[in-house]
Amino acid sequence: MSHSDPATADLIAAAAAVRLNAHAPYSRFLVGAALRMVDGSIHVGCNVENVAYPEGTCAEAGAIAAMCAAGARDIAAVAVIADSPKPVSPCGGCRQKLAEFCNGDVPVTLTTVDGVTLQTTVAALLPGAFDRDYMSKV
Ligand code: THU
Repeated sequence: MSHSDPATADLIAAAAAVRLNAHAPYSRFLVGAALRMVDGSIHVGCNVENVAYPEGTCAEAGAIAAMCAAGARDIAAVAVIADSPKPVSPCGGCRQKLAEFCNGDVPVTLTTVDGVTLQTTVAALLPGAFDRDYMSKV
């Protein structure tokens, strides 16, 4: 069941649209991710797999790459969508990648194509995140 506000609904729609461009012939698990910037612009990404399996990239990583390529940095909200029985859970690496560009309180909407939605935050996804403070003695 989905009860999202219009801005979140737009972000989910962007993630759902780009999900259809996923290159996932090996897992057949298509994922879409959308990032809304503080200025309201949206950047999207899908998973891109490879016959050399470890070379595949996640939807979240693709969206972050698109965001940086566009010169954007400040993420205000994240949405990820997949055709899963429960809202898709970003992998550990992507949690760290999102934390690079988000305050901990940035909302993350995880949803299924059927509309089962989980609202969380970047900090909740990655407790004890390694951040730049740990490098303050360098
Ligand atoms: N995948 C993502 O793109 N994002 C997630 O949050 C979970 C997993 C992709 C990686 C791989 O292409 C496929 O889903 C199956 O793991």
